[in-house]
Amino acid sequence: MIEIRDVSKTFRRGNRTVQALGPIDLTVARGEFVTVLGPSGCGKTTLLHILGGFEMPTTGTVTVDGKVVTGPGRDRGMVFQEATLFPWRTVQDNVAWPSRVAGESKAQARERARELLARVGLSRFADAYPGELSGGMRQRAALARTLAMEPSVLLMDEPFGALDAQTREVMQEELTRLWQATGLTVIFITHDIAEAIFLGDRVVVMGAAPGQVVADTRIELARPRDARTKLDARILDYRQQFWQLLRDASPAAASASDPAQGQV
Ligand SMILES: Nc1ncnc2c1ncn2[C@@H]1O[C@H](COP(=O)(O)OP(=O)(O)OP(=O)(O)O)[C@@H](O)[C@H]1O
Ligand SMILES: [Mg+2]
Repeated sequence: MIEIRDVSKTFRRGNRTVQALGPIDLTVARGEFVTVLGPSGCGKTTLLHILGGFEMPTTGTVTVDGKVVTGPGRDRGMVFQEATLFPWRTVQDNVAWPSRVAGESKAQARERARELLARVGLSRFADAYPGELSGGMRQRAALARTLAMEPSVLLMDEPFGALDAQTREVMQEELTRLWQATGLTVIFITHDIAEAIFLGDRVVVMGAAPGQVVADTRIELARPRDARTKLDARILDYRQQFWQLLRDASPAAASASDPAQGQV
């Protein structure tokens, strides 16, 4: 469904050019959940922006459903690390906003927003303002708003990176349930090895800048996955394998953090 062919990106910095990404080849099937790990600065966000159509690749092409990506589109929804909600609108009006932009009536948009808020467990906070929510709730609201666009592809850039460990685990389980219920195709960037394993059908590991794919591993953990999945003994093997790959990819990351935390 998503075909990334020979994609690279070069940025100009002063009078120098810096290669930020690739070349990368990657194919993602419809309904697949692909997580991406890679050292800081290797080009993960750049890749996601190219998939979203916010940046054009310097070489290569991205196609989604056979169509070359030339700009942003409602078929591809983005969720960022920090929830980006309108602070002056209630949660419900934030979630209703994409439907309003798409020309739906106020009543239709509200109805849809209520459904989505129920789906992410925020019904009770429909009339609250973003400033009154916890970080996890804000991320849920942002997810609901992105889902209101009815995308077929969800692009997530470290969406749970700013959350505390417990909220993060709850969000992972919720996202898994939601994904299973909707059949969305997801590309999810994270620095957290355990998160990548728990969520992914496949884990793609990128090397140091300019990032290329150094490993693409199928995660053979049964679905549906829930809290019990995290006790599966195979997770330890995967963790070790990805930790090693990341350490090889980035000497700086190895000295900067502790493998026991699964952070890079
Ligand atoms: N608009 C831009 N102009 C110039 N250089 C850029 C631009 N965007 C990104 N870069 C450079 O491209 C490289 C990759 O950046 P990118 O944000 O994609 O990395 P990343 O893998 O997402 O890192 P992190 O894990 O820290 O979020 C970096 O060297 C960055 O400085
Ligand atoms: Mg990034």
